Amino acid sequence: MNRRDFLASAAIAASVPIEWDLSAAAAAAAAGAPPSDFPMPPPRAVMPVQPFESEPGRLTLDKGWRFHAGDLEVPLPQGHNATYEATKAGAARGAAAIKYDDSDWTTVDLPHDWVIERPFDPEANVSQGYRRRGIGWYRRTLRLEESDRGRYLELQFGAIATNATIWFNGSIVSHNWSGYNSIHVDVTDLARYGDALNTIAVRADADPMEGWWYEGGGIYRHVRLAKRPPVHITTDGIHADPRRRPDGGWTVPVVATLGNIGEAAAEAEIEAVLLDPAGKTVAGGRTRAQVMPLGRAEARIALPVPAPQLWSADTPHLYTLVTRLVGDAAAADERRLELGFRTIRFDAEHGFFLNEQPTKLKGVCIHQDHAGVGVAVPDALWEWRIRRLKALGANAIRFAHNAPPTEALDLCDRLGMLVMDENRQFNTSPDYLAQLEWMVRRDRNRPSVILWSVFNEEPMQGTPQGYEMVRRMAHVVKQLDDQRPVTAAMNNGMFAPRTVSQAVDVVGFNYQADQYDKFHAAFPDKPLTSSEDTSAFMTRGEYRTDRARHVMASYDEERADWGATHRSSWKAIAERPWLAGTFVWTGFDYHGEPTPFEWPSVSSLFGIMDLCGFPKTAFHLRRAQWVDDTPLLDLAPHWTWPGREGDPIKVMAFTNVERVALILNGRRLSEQAVDRYEMPSWSVPYAPGRLEAIGYRGGRAVVRAMVETTGAPVALRLTPDRPMMAGDGEDVQPITVDAVDAKGRHVPTANLPVDFAIAGGTIIGLGNGDPLSHEPEKGSRRSLFNGLAQVIVRADEGAGPLTLAATAPGLRTGRLSVRRVQSPARQSVAVVTDAKAGG
Ligand code: GAL
Repeated sequence: MNRRDFLASAAIAASVPIEWDLSAAAAAAAAGAPPSDFPMPPPRAVMPVQPFESEPGRLTLDKGWRFHAGDLEVPLPQGHNATYEATKAGAARGAAAIKYDDSDWTTVDLPHDWVIERPFDPEANVSQGYRRRGIGWYRRTLRLEESDRGRYLELQFGAIATNATIWFNGSIVSHNWSGYNSIHVDVTDLARYGDALNTIAVRADADPMEGWWYEGGGIYRHVRLAKRPPVHITTDGIHADPRRRPDGGWTVPVVATLGNIGEAAAEAEIEAVLLDPAGKTVAGGRTRAQVMPLGRAEARIALPVPAPQLWSADTPHLYTLVTRLVGDAAAADERRLELGFRTIRFDAEHGFFLNEQPTKLKGVCIHQDHAGVGVAVPDALWEWRIRRLKALGANAIRFAHNAPPTEALDLCDRLGMLVMDENRQFNTSPDYLAQLEWMVRRDRNRPSVILWSVFNEEPMQGTPQGYEMVRRMAHVVKQLDDQRPVTAAMNNGMFAPRTVSQAVDVVGFNYQADQYDKFHAAFPDKPLTSSEDTSAFMTRGEYRTDRARHVMASYDEERADWGATHRSSWKAIAERPWLAGTFVWTGFDYHGEPTPFEWPSVSSLFGIMDLCGFPKTAFHLRRAQWVDDTPLLDLAPHWTWPGREGDPIKVMAFTNVERVALILNGRRLSEQAVDRYEMPSWSVPYAPGRLEAIGYRGGRAVVRAMVETTGAPVALRLTPDRPMMAGDGEDVQPITVDAVDAKGRHVPTANLPVDFAIAGGTIIGLGNGDPLSHEPEKGSRRSLFNGLAQVIVRADEGAGPLTLAATAPGLRTGRLSVRRVQSPARQSVAVVTDAKAGG
């Protein structure tokens, strides 16, 4: 079975025995000890959903890079002859040269973010999270076989932070000034075959800043090598965005762009086949195209699909379009796309419609970093993050303020998330329009993507210049995609005589809740969405604000001056049917921008979840507002307040039921009707024991919640997300670390250092969600913060156990064993160990 089929097969989930050891305390809990308020979901016995493999045969180039931290001077040539020679193709010098001794550089695998490895530094930039960024060099040697001669060869970098120069065999092949777009380089003409090895060199300068958040540094997304036949399908060369016809049927208009590196014109025969979600062929067609040498040609096939299963965020049914060049094996080239049939419509009067169903956008803005790994987020961690947002009840993500990795969007298509896809640079010069074009070309087939955002809060938004720039950018977008609206996230200037709001299809408001009605009254025909709102502050597990200590309570009362609490911002949006929806700032905390604080705070406090994806009370609050059917009830705070006996404690319930009764140690305190915008709250004199809540619908008790006073921590516990992992050398998962008391209950107040030891895998990062923590995010040690820490592990290749042990003085060791399942690794470009051989 090949890798794609293997990972896609549901059978592996069922066939893998679930064999994992909980620590003793957790086992006690499983055996009927009282439930605890452990905040994470129980492990699930399935493999992660994978990003989609669009190009079978494309090789990964993630392994075996050489890395040098810091800049290296490229020696200037001396004398006329040397200067003459140094300025020729292939003659790059220094670390960019074909031959360079990089044997003392570190070996790294991608994705790689060198900035997250660095210590915090009060002198470094606050927005970037107080870490020095700097410059780094990468080199990779690769061998191409004689049999590759004549094939089209393309290097594909997912992204490099930030300003990158790339050399191939001593020639500069790309200057790329942005850390958020892919770089595709045709290296066919410069390639060498057999024992003459090839060298890639990359200089990444991460000192320039494109954002006011943590941006990391280095080759932090995947790198691939595509080897294609001389006549081939170009990169992002399939456009196939399903359309609903007026008669109610559907058509998939397939446009394939072909290239030809041969010396003669070629006649290509191209076939498109559409498979339904069960893998059954439902449509197909063929056509021919002539491609001139070094030219491009388009081939068009329209596939009728009478009554497809529709895609939605709840039912993300995906069809697979296979487009291939028909011919002998050497001429075979194939692209696979996952397509979803859905309609979208933004209506000025009635908001957003998905498949003609009114659908409020319950969205979050997120940046692309995570605890422990910075911006080098492995695919499986992206899957986990998106599932955390699904668990929240969110149906939309705004990837702020840049195009995300393609793998994250694959997962939005597959798991069901609507996406605002956002461009980074507000700039209409050719280099930057090319970045916008790249984004649209890459993402225009995706059912998840519903909006193109061309900027965030640009000072020129209310000026004729801003209007003219957006008019041009919208034009570029429309030439490539006539289906999705263009928006821009405005925080001012929308009433100016010439303004960007006149150049977009859907106006995005960042904050400005007091202008919603005014704008709607003044422009009743203009669809409006919040593109960003809220900006409330919470420190996970804290219930008393202490600004001097940089701590924010979790009662949804703290917010930025320009923002709103979660409750008031959702109320303003939910009550206005013409407003398409919300994009909360933010789904997760992120490194950097520790507003309203600065040093020693190093990461943000805006998240509904913390930097690790652990829930704050905002998670329970939003979920109770966003999820209707399943009865939900959560209580805050925890109930372990030694020394505060008799003190009044504010208690909140987060629920979607009609009434809630609160019970302390068996005594019914009071019952409240639920205002789902505000949520019930009480002042309860603290008495240790058990605080319970019962939720009622139609007079019936439908849900319960409980917090309990816990004893001192006696043992550590490790809880995986999954009891098994793919042994493909890439699979990762976050493990939740907590401490339990003698009764096996989660201790929410434990703050103690923990050491980890792993076998069968690698710890790739650690975190605990504390915006004030200066502990390293790499290594094998991390403190619990308000009861929790996270260890992100990568499984070694092969089968066998991955074991993790957690130790802390005086506590029983927490142990975990996860099963590594033998899985085919991705096909990769072999690592050449003797790098000096490049000659
Ligand atoms: C917005 C901005 C975001 C973030 C946020 C913090 O104005 O678009 O990137 O900085 O403020 O509240």
